Amino acid sequence: MKITLIACIFILCVSIEGDAEKIGVNNGLLGDNLPPQEEVVSLMKMNNIGKYRIYKQEPTVFKAFANSDIEIIVGVANFDLQRISSDEKEAMKWVAEYVKPYFPATNIKYIAVGNEVLGKAETAKYVGYLLPAMINIQNALQKANLQDKIKVSTALAARDLIEALSFQAPSKGTFTEKVENDTSAVLKFLEHSRSPFLANVFPFFIYNSSRDSYSLDYALFKPTAPVVKDGNKIYKNLFDAMIDTLYSAMESMGYSNIPIVVTATGWPSKGNDVATIQNAKSYNNNLIKHVLSKAGTPKRPGQSPETCIFALFNENQKPGDETERNFGLFYPNKKPVYPVQFSV
Ligand SMILES: *[C@@H]1O[C@H](CO)[C@@H](O)[C@H](O)[C@H]1NC(C)=O
Repeated sequence: MKITLIACIFILCVSIEGDAEKIGVNNGLLGDNLPPQEEVVSLMKMNNIGKYRIYKQEPTVFKAFANSDIEIIVGVANFDLQRISSDEKEAMKWVAEYVKPYFPATNIKYIAVGNEVLGKAETAKYVGYLLPAMINIQNALQKANLQDKIKVSTALAARDLIEALSFQAPSKGTFTEKVENDTSAVLKFLEHSRSPFLANVFPFFIYNSSRDSYSLDYALFKPTAPVVKDGNKIYKNLFDAMIDTLYSAMESMGYSNIPIVVTATGWPSKGNDVATIQNAKSYNNNLIKHVLSKAGTPKRPGQSPETCIFALFNENQKPGDETERNFGLFYPNKKPVYPVQFSV
């Protein structure tokens, strides 16, 4: 009797723990010193990290993460969009080669077709291929009868779709004129396929580019930050403000039922005056606490978005600004850059 009771309590605890939403991480794999995927699985399990985003199909990842229970978000790389968009057979080949052999042992949850394609000069050449590629992947999944288990979307950057100063008034959010038609077409697809909006949400870039308009403490989720009032809503951090601005922008186009998943957010620990270990440690620890608290945002209380931190490792071959190579939570040798509490 006693033993049964203890067993029941144990099972209850395990199942409650199993249901808890976990934080995720990105791995761009742009390093010549990164650990093998089997070691990544162990590192993530040890830290209770439950989601893993990679930017293109990677059989070594699919194999290593089989039966790990970790949810996978896999990208279709921008440079593959033209090919995938050109012919449904190409999408069927992609699904046959990279999804069917691994799913469901490997828990592929979302396919992010393209990364930050809309609203950037560097990716303008891919815009015409984006929606046709999404449709072809969706049709290929449908033919494999996987459309209810794996959702097709595209990852877009909040800062490419919305003016930096618009995040001051989330209820008035709108997409910039430049992206509104293409974004509207993507939203129509997402609503129809019941897929989430995958958003890369970086308070760091918004704060950095508009320092007179946002306080650093607000960007870092500091409890001492001055709050921002927006109608009857009170914003305590820029992350929530950015997400709700995106929700308002979607609503302004008639889409009010598409959930946001934060596919990337983070703070660099090196590379400019506010990219410090102290600030990165504050941002990521406060972010995790906020997301796992299920507080949600003022517009969507009680349902924090699924969230993946960029990035798991510092990636020494990532091009661009020095900060880009210093977003990691861990050094490639798996030592933490600063202490992070991944579960509450
Ligand atoms: C931060 O802002 C400065 C000033 O506008 C700019 O020169 C720099 O490139 C920005 N850094 C990043 C990482 O965006």
